[in-house]
Amino acid sequence: MVVHWLNYICAMKILMVCLGNICRSPLAEGILQNKSDQAGLQWQVDSAGTNGLHNGESPHPLSQKVAKQHGIDISRQRSRRLVKEDFDRYDMLYAMAGDVVEEMKWIAKDKFNSAKVQLLMDEVYPGQNRDVPDPWYGGEEGYHDVFELIDKACDALLQNHQQSLQTL
Ligand code: 4NP
Repeated sequence: MVVHWLNYICAMKILMVCLGNICRSPLAEGILQNKSDQAGLQWQVDSAGTNGLHNGESPHPLSQKVAKQHGIDISRQRSRRLVKEDFDRYDMLYAMAGDVVEEMKWIAKDKFNSAKVQLLMDEVYPGQNRDVPDPWYGGEEGYHDVFELIDKACDALLQNHQQSLQTL
């Protein structure tokens, strides 16, 4: 694969955000970090949650299980709450759902920067405001569905990134 020279100076820092930072965003962190590493990009991908209810906890066992089935180890991640300083630290913050964006606004207050915040599924379906559904209240099937959605969105994210570099 030809890696554009700009990728080497664009060491992107990306934050994946959901509510609890134990189900969806740990998967998003693992999936995008894995894909960007494989693409030879110098990206740092992290995740956080808006509610802080699971601070310090490992990802949900079913998120870990599904990730592992796809060869991705997310077991070393630990949940943390989003802080307003994250809006300075990261180049892009991807929200898993619309309710997450509302919580992000509340946490960020004057630091909220709409240019840096996007629904993850907008990478696949621009302008359709689609959510990655919360699997927290359901069974294992939901975690597989969430993996597939996030995986598709991260493929599109990387493709869109490469296309934006071609136009430079
Ligand atoms: P997540 O799922 O936002 O995908 O991590 C949730 C996990 C826990 C809770 C809500 C959502 N909770 O309220 O404890």
